[in-house]
Amino acid sequence: MSTTRTYAISHWPDTDELIAKAHRLVAAPPRPIRRDKMKEYLAYFETRCARSKASTTAAAKLIPGGVQHNLAFNYPFPLNIARADGAYLWDVDGNRYIDFLQAGGPTVLGSNYAPVRERVIEVLNQCGPVTGLFHEYEYKLAELINRHMPHVEMFRMLGSGTEACMAAIRAARNFTGRSKVIKVGGAYHGWSDQLVFGTRIPGSGMFESAGIPESTLQHTQEFYPNDIDGESGLHALLERNKSDGGTAAVMVEPLGPESGSRPVQRDFNARVRALCDEYGALLVFDEVVTGFRSGLGGAQGFFGIKPDLTVFGKCIAGGFPAAGGVGGRADIMKTFAAGIGGGQQKTLVGGTLSANPLSAAAGYFAILEMERTNAPVLAGRAGDKLCAGLHSVIEELGLPFFVYNHGSILHLETHGVLLLDVSDPEFFPKLSQRRKIAEEMGAAYSAEGIITLAGSRLYTSMADTDEVIEQAVAGFRRVLENVEGVR
Ligand SMILES: Cc1ncc(COP(=O)(O)O)c(C=O)c1O
Repeated sequence: MSTTRTYAISHWPDTDELIAKAHRLVAAPPRPIRRDKMKEYLAYFETRCARSKASTTAAAKLIPGGVQHNLAFNYPFPLNIARADGAYLWDVDGNRYIDFLQAGGPTVLGSNYAPVRERVIEVLNQCGPVTGLFHEYEYKLAELINRHMPHVEMFRMLGSGTEACMAAIRAARNFTGRSKVIKVGGAYHGWSDQLVFGTRIPGSGMFESAGIPESTLQHTQEFYPNDIDGESGLHALLERNKSDGGTAAVMVEPLGPESGSRPVQRDFNARVRALCDEYGALLVFDEVVTGFRSGLGGAQGFFGIKPDLTVFGKCIAGGFPAAGGVGGRADIMKTFAAGIGGGQQKTLVGGTLSANPLSAAAGYFAILEMERTNAPVLAGRAGDKLCAGLHSVIEELGLPFFVYNHGSILHLETHGVLLLDVSDPEFFPKLSQRRKIAEEMGAAYSAEGIITLAGSRLYTSMADTDEVIEQAVAGFRRVLENVEGVR
């Protein structure tokens, strides 16, 4: 029997314990970094990051917020990154950082991985980035995905995860003839009108974006993470929808909303699958983050669940641009068949640059390399090690913080912004206070040479050797030692 692990997740964290810790964190007064130390951290940016400051200040005149990407760090100002390699990033001032942003998740092999880059350059030299016609890597990528995820019987490549989520719900509605789509509160399924609802924080409704007509959201519903049987839980929603046109799809991030920021029980997805079967709704797995990062079989392979449709992004193009796609049951996927016309049964999707040779080849070669190197498992081991190191630091310093991981996706909870309760009358003041702490934590980590996602999420990669993890834990320790009330 082979003992080779194929999934990044070595154990499932105790969900009840994490939920209890989350309640305690948001009930307790926040614990920011000491003011004198924060001053020092901010001085780092002024003295060591002058070129970043100058360029992003100039950019702010032409680019809203001074930066095009909403994952970029903005406090005290965005860093201008000049170079990326493996586990590290370098800014234009020559400072080196350990990279736990990993571009938001797509680079399981590490940043700027040469063997993939070189194959992509070969393709570019031959046919450039786009022709608008079929290229063999479209087929090779679809075949490779199908080999690892047999439930993805057919695959349509698109430009982003957002587009892929839109395509999945359109296909589900077309196929079932129903309108309602149910999502989990707090889940992020991109920024399309119909899915920016209850995003990031459960129950937050349209709070994340203005400019969306309420009528657009009349068929989008959310239920609280893990709430299957409650009064407003999934079962109740499906039952209620039965007499109101029925439910087309239930869409989940399989590790829990916002990449597991609200952890779900181990059997959550199986229970959702069973209810979808009972009510004839399609199950859509949003594997934009988990697809290939949690293992080559995705979260669906890890949980042993067959979704009807799967949404892809990020890893599907190996960290290169135009990363999106939807796949699944052939009878549903056939509604995407290309060509002008086609009548009522067709699910229209498009994209001038979708499935261009560059993105398709990049995805193909990256997944092949992940297969060859067992990168998802190596990245997961690095995640386990980092999690254990951070847990020890938190315990040793007696902090009310907590850390957990699903393989290479880690959550380091120090402020609890995404854990706040929208029904709390103090929600808005708490949100702005804790958001400030999140910004400060992120800035402090950067000043200690570590880039995170929003100061609380960390993605590890195959490039994170034991030495990198040790350096990182030491850097986090220096920040956490300076939290108010320590010692
Ligand atoms: C679970 C999930 N779905 C969808 C998306 C949207 O993907 P994209 O940013 O490619 O539009 C994201 C992006 O972070 C995501 O995390």
